[in-house]
Amino acid sequence: MTDTPTGGDVRLTGISKTYGSFTAVHPLDLTVPEGSFFALLGASGCGKTTTLRMIAGLEEPTTGTVLLGDRDVTDLPPHKRPVNTVFQSYALFPHLDVHENIAFGLRRRGVRSVRRQVDEMLELVQLGDKARHRPHQLSGGQQQRVAVARALINHPRVLLLDEPLGALDLKLRRRMQLELKRIQTEVGITFVHVTHDQEEAMTMADTVAVMNAGRVEQMGAPAELYDNPRTTFVANFLGTSNLIEAEVVEVGADVVATAGGGTLRLPADRCPAPVRAGGRLLVGIRPEKITLAHADDADAIPSGRNRTAGRIADTSFIGVSTQYAVDGPAGTGLQVYEQNIERDPRLVPGAEVVLHWNPAHTFGLDAAQDVEAGAPTVEGAA
Ligand SMILES: Nc1ncnc2c1ncn2[C@@H]1O[C@H](COP(=O)(O)OP(=O)(O)OP(=O)(O)O)[C@@H](O)[C@H]1O
Ligand SMILES: [Mg+2]
Repeated sequence: MTDTPTGGDVRLTGISKTYGSFTAVHPLDLTVPEGSFFALLGASGCGKTTTLRMIAGLEEPTTGTVLLGDRDVTDLPPHKRPVNTVFQSYALFPHLDVHENIAFGLRRRGVRSVRRQVDEMLELVQLGDKARHRPHQLSGGQQQRVAVARALINHPRVLLLDEPLGALDLKLRRRMQLELKRIQTEVGITFVHVTHDQEEAMTMADTVAVMNAGRVEQMGAPAELYDNPRTTFVANFLGTSNLIEAEVVEVGADVVATAGGGTLRLPADRCPAPVRAGGRLLVGIRPEKITLAHADDADAIPSGRNRTAGRIADTSFIGVSTQYAVDGPAGTGLQVYEQNIERDPRLVPGAEVVLHWNPAHTFGLDAAQDVEAGAPTVEGAA
């Protein structure tokens, strides 16, 4: 062990965890940039908590090493690692008030004058007026902020958060996402946040690692992952994608493919390599990129757009948008989201329509994958 100062970044190399014959986390390499807000996103049981616990030292990795900055902490016990964890259940001390809950870490280390630091933390989490409240006198969101302050007062290099907003209702959850993001920006330390909520991960994180069955499928900035998913799992788990099975007929700057008797174009550099004529391809397009035209207006669709015909099977009015499910030769249940600006009263179930979109917004995926991977199931596992 060296005494070099540790940076805030987390580096996992070849880290894995097996329980008997079951592999919870496959050998994993992961670098979390210093000062970033990093999210581990995935469905229940994919290995998020196990990964986080290996960073914290609460779980011993089967293989691999954990570095915090330049320091190998793989063999260090949890309390010797410069990390703190915030869990879903905040586990505040019920008999201590907010001030004393936050002061706990300092007092345990024998720090006498805690007032200034606790006041700073109270201000950071905007609970100055609640210092003398007990946890049961606070809302869920307020308790959660106390838990964050209690961890941050120890000045960890890295703050680990395991579904910290899981117990909150949706509206409060959305507020707390922005609040946590503000706190992270203000303190500037690395946050590693575990969640199964894709919207939460995209709202908060600079970098998102999408996990599936113990592996990281793809990692990147939220917009990058959303616009350029590389696997069907990522395409379906992060938002919604239409994945149309197609056959490649031509490869140039654009790839031309046929699906359901029609022709679709997409940029070759948005296709998996290698693409060859005669091969199969999944043509991907996000629901909000598609415009829905009534079949009677099909002649007015500008040329150069990708288009495919169908019949509206279902509509749901969401408020800001209307979501349509369209069945056609290219696929059943194609999803189209239209903003509610001027709704076309003809767009009702049974109506014949044409879906059209900019070819540049289209992405290609390897057709050897499960088209349904990562899509929500009936139980809503995602
Ligand atoms: N102590 C253990 N013994 C055996 N299997 C375990 C143990 N801990 C975790 N697992 C298994 O490892 C897998 C990953 O668990 P983990 O808790 O990391 O999932 P997760 O992604 O955090 O899920 P969730 O979103 O439900 O919290 C699961 O299939 C789980 O059953
Ligand atoms: Mg978990």
